[in-house]
Amino acid sequence: MSSQSAKVDLNLMESLERARDSIITKGELPLWMISSESLYQLELRKLWPRTWNFVGHESEIPNPGNYMVRHVGPRDSVIIVRGDDGRLRAFLNQCVHRGRKLSAVDYGETKVFKCPYHGWSYNLQGRCIGVPFIEKFPKDFDPDKNGLIEVRMESYGGLLFVNLDGRAESLRDYLGDYAWYLDIIVKRSKIGLEFHPPIRWVVPTNWKVAAENLNSDGYHIMTTHLSGIQLGMMPPDVNFRGLVTALRVISRKGHSIDFAHWQHDYILKHRELMPACYPKWAPEVIESAKSNLTTRQFETWITYHGRTMFGIIYPNLSILHSFAGIEGLTDYARGIPGVPFIAFRLLRPIRNDLMEWTTWFAVEKDANPRFKQLSYRAYIQETSVGGFFEPDDMDNFQYITESSMSLKANLDGENVRAVYPLRADPVRPLHEIVYDDVEVIPLGITEQGMRYFWARYFDYLLNGD
Ligand code: FES
Ligand SMILES: [Fe+2]
Repeated sequence: MSSQSAKVDLNLMESLERARDSIITKGELPLWMISSESLYQLELRKLWPRTWNFVGHESEIPNPGNYMVRHVGPRDSVIIVRGDDGRLRAFLNQCVHRGRKLSAVDYGETKVFKCPYHGWSYNLQGRCIGVPFIEKFPKDFDPDKNGLIEVRMESYGGLLFVNLDGRAESLRDYLGDYAWYLDIIVKRSKIGLEFHPPIRWVVPTNWKVAAENLNSDGYHIMTTHLSGIQLGMMPPDVNFRGLVTALRVISRKGHSIDFAHWQHDYILKHRELMPACYPKWAPEVIESAKSNLTTRQFETWITYHGRTMFGIIYPNLSILHSFAGIEGLTDYARGIPGVPFIAFRLLRPIRNDLMEWTTWFAVEKDANPRFKQLSYRAYIQETSVGGFFEPDDMDNFQYITESSMSLKANLDGENVRAVYPLRADPVRPLHEIVYDDVEVIPLGITEQGMRYFWARYFDYLLNGD
């Protein structure tokens, strides 16, 4: 390394240390850090190889031979396959002979992975089972030593995560006390969730703008998403005031989720509207949750399920539990409610100013077919390219990314800042404390979770190899 680049590196690390201190103590972030190319390069070395990266759900590949191809960070392609033994494994999507990508498709069913270059083949367990002209190879060449490279994968409630770092903490420890709240969505069904094939979309934004928003920006909803009410998709709770009284669960590990409900005085004033404000769950989903969750988890869900739950599993898996009015069915004025849905969204970096946005619809496996169909309709209306929520968000993300790349932000970094002033004191948490890494804040619009999101980001970039 030249002394010049060592100096640049040192300056960068000093900037990161100052930024970490500033986001925690003052809630201020230099704007250039959002889309900085240097930080993007540092993420490739220090963030993506060490975090637990979401790669899909067990239900997407139910049978032996089913496989799917997913990515970890911007570069690493991974095959997740169900073996003959029913076990799920993750392998780098590359041939061990000379590194050619093995599968060019997203989903498939096979008995063998055959490399299109020289024809080496691998079974579902990753063993090398075929090498053309093997009789001409040196005597000490052993196909058994040339199996696919397996990467560490762990599951939580059917959600699959890959970590490229063999020494990283377990997924369970990574989730910490946050898992108690996550269970309310992913473990309330006796037989789990089913995921539908994802929809993908490329957006001109840095992934962190989207991730901080989906982590805990309840504050933007009453402005950015007001059109949802105006179009009649949401009940007429003008300005989404109910969100202000939500419980925001924030983890110092960067995860977050809120439980938003209707503002208490609003409920008292508009009792006649309330039946319409609680989306209608399939009764079997409620029954299943009652027996599968603890009493406290079940009550938490029932108390708050009238509105949205949204948050993030660090760094880039968004969970959205919302609802939408269905044309020809929902009539808020007559007390006929909208239909709930669950969406998981992955924000994957492609470049410092480009992100792939992948959305999955999820529903309880034991829900009835009619509910599944309506829930899917609610999901497709609200999310993705044609939805009435997400395109509004994308404009915000893109314009912040552009501001963060401005000359002024980059030349005069300390003075062009994003600020996160909204805070509140924590209340007694609902969960049993094991890891002591979660705070519960009675303010849905707090920006405190975003401070933790960024602090965790700086921790990854400042530490490790
Ligand atoms: S690179 Fe795959 S067989 Fe040669
Ligand atoms: Fe939004």
